[in-house]
Amino acid sequence: MTPELGVTTASGAYPVIVSAGALEQLPERLGALGLRGVLWLVSDAAVAAAYGAALAARLSQAGYQVQHCTVPSGEASKSQEQLWRLYDWMIGNGVERRDVVLALGGGVVGDLAGYAAATVLRGIAVVQLPTTLLAMVDAAVGGKTGINHPLGKNLIGAFHQPRLVLADTHTLATLPRRELCAGWAEVIKHGVIREAGLFAELEQLAAQRGWTETGFSGWNAEDPELTGRLTALIRRAVAVKVEVVSRDEREQGERIILNYGHTIGHAVEALVDDWALLHGEAVAIGMHAEARIAAAMGLCDPALVERQRRLLAAYGLSVTLPANLDPEAVLTLALRDKKVRAGRIRWVLPTAVGNVTVRDDVPETTVRAVLGG
Ligand code: NAD
Ligand code: GLY
Repeated sequence: MTPELGVTTASGAYPVIVSAGALEQLPERLGALGLRGVLWLVSDAAVAAAYGAALAARLSQAGYQVQHCTVPSGEASKSQEQLWRLYDWMIGNGVERRDVVLALGGGVVGDLAGYAAATVLRGIAVVQLPTTLLAMVDAAVGGKTGINHPLGKNLIGAFHQPRLVLADTHTLATLPRRELCAGWAEVIKHGVIREAGLFAELEQLAAQRGWTETGFSGWNAEDPELTGRLTALIRRAVAVKVEVVSRDEREQGERIILNYGHTIGHAVEALVDDWALLHGEAVAIGMHAEARIAAAMGLCDPALVERQRRLLAAYGLSVTLPANLDPEAVLTLALRDKKVRAGRIRWVLPTAVGNVTVRDDVPETTVRAVLGG
């Protein structure tokens, strides 16, 4: 068995497994947790084609009854329509309280299927099986589930902690490189907010592999040494999320540090035409802007900004604000961020690699100067 991490919250404790080949353990893990009802496997079209049938077959061979439903790939599936499709499928096929939803996919499937599990029959168990890097290090851990509303992202949802998170890094071999790089933004974010050692190891690996000049070359399933090292780095980044949500399940305090890069990042993501940036790509831009704000306020050494920029570039991420983006529009949108309290933005700002502080006194002139120049 792989060494495991574990979330412990008031709503319960659950193991978080990160390893290459972890999905092979799923039948045994479900058994060990006493999860023996019907398994309602939800995935999106791309993930279903690559992994859905094989996983369903493995579970059936192990004696489980499996139902499989596929939603279209993409953010648009975090919708009332797809949620209702899942309810119709589960209720129409006799879902029971002891059954389990298996969310196999990226953050879209995790959020949608997690919310269906949180609400059908007033809540049944969910197991998160993330297949994107972003979902492994962020979305699958911590119990946030939900769908989008026409007026904004993630506005309908519930906290519903999974019974198990099992991240098989072998699945990253088929993830498009751009999606993979977007996930590295969250890994690097976890280094900046909490784990200087993780940040330094990411730097070392990039230097050894020459990515500092060329940018991350992609997942290489033919290179077991690299797969092992990347898997260990991902596990370390997941450990940061595990630790933070274990201490602050409902985002009453410390969990806000996971929002580093997101105040500017969310606004940039929403303002670019046709959602042309992936979430992680926007977060990288946000991390750079927010580090510059910290440096301008004298909270961190300006060298941190450059060190972070170089690491983001090594993992394939640009920090340049898209051309023609109006800084005022970014500011206005940031003010509507869910992390605003009493009309003041609560900024997560780095003080050193591995450490952040939360401030609500960032002058608007500083933000304008950073966004404008
Ligand atoms: P996603 O789920 O849309 O996946 C990205 C793309 O990759 C999709 O086209 C998908 O089909 C494809 N894909 C997934 N795994 C694959 C694989 N192994 N091989 C080939 N293709 C694969 O996007 P995402 O970036 O994983 O997640 C974004 C969502 O996560 C957003 O909706 C965001 O709001 C949510 N999120 C939630 C939390 C949380 O705490 N609940 C945290 C962060 C983000
Ligand atoms: N993605 C931020 C959080 O889970 O709190």
